[in-house]
Amino acid sequence: MRILGVLCALAVIAVFASESVAADQGEAKFQAMCASCHGKAGVGTTMAPALVKNEFVKTSKPEDITKVILEGRTGKDKKYPKMPMAMPAQKGKLKDDETKALVDYLKKLSPEDAAAKPAAAKPAAAKPATKPAAKPAAKPTTTK
Ligand code: HEC
Repeated sequence: MRILGVLCALAVIAVFASESVAADQGEAKFQAMCASCHGKAGVGTTMAPALVKNEFVKTSKPEDITKVILEGRTGKDKKYPKMPMAMPAQKGKLKDDETKALVDYLKKLSPEDAAAKPAAAKPAAAKPATKPAAKPAAKPTTTK
């Protein structure tokens, strides 16, 4: 019985390990190319903003995040004036699949949550469907 439990545990680990390969590539690239400024695991440093729970990453489309990574953000486009450094363009340093893995990794650090979506997303049908207007109560018919 116990050996069965161990086998099950191993199987679960194997499944998880294979599923996270793509994210691992993103994480590995992040550690190699981005962590020096954005901090280990993206927690931010005095040089660059945290990418964990980052509003821009959370609310932007993958294309827009990709654009910032590839083209950088310098000069007047800078969003964090207190940080003297700019986000350097990574164009030419990343292959397409590596960029995609990085964006997936960033989306993991700053997942979109329901609260970020406009409240209008909630079904407006909370009100009960208008009931047919109640018929005026029939006058009590006096029984003869
Ligand atoms: C030389 C330091 C440096 C490196 C290396 C670097 N960044 Fe940045 N990054 C910055 C700075 C500084 C900013 C903020 C620029 C600004 O003021 O808008 C930034 C901004 C960003 C933003 C936008 C954040 C926001 O809140 O708008 C993303 C996304 C980002 N970086 C991702 C990456 C990724 C992914 C890598 C690795 C491929 C990377 N960065 C490498 C310095 C760096």
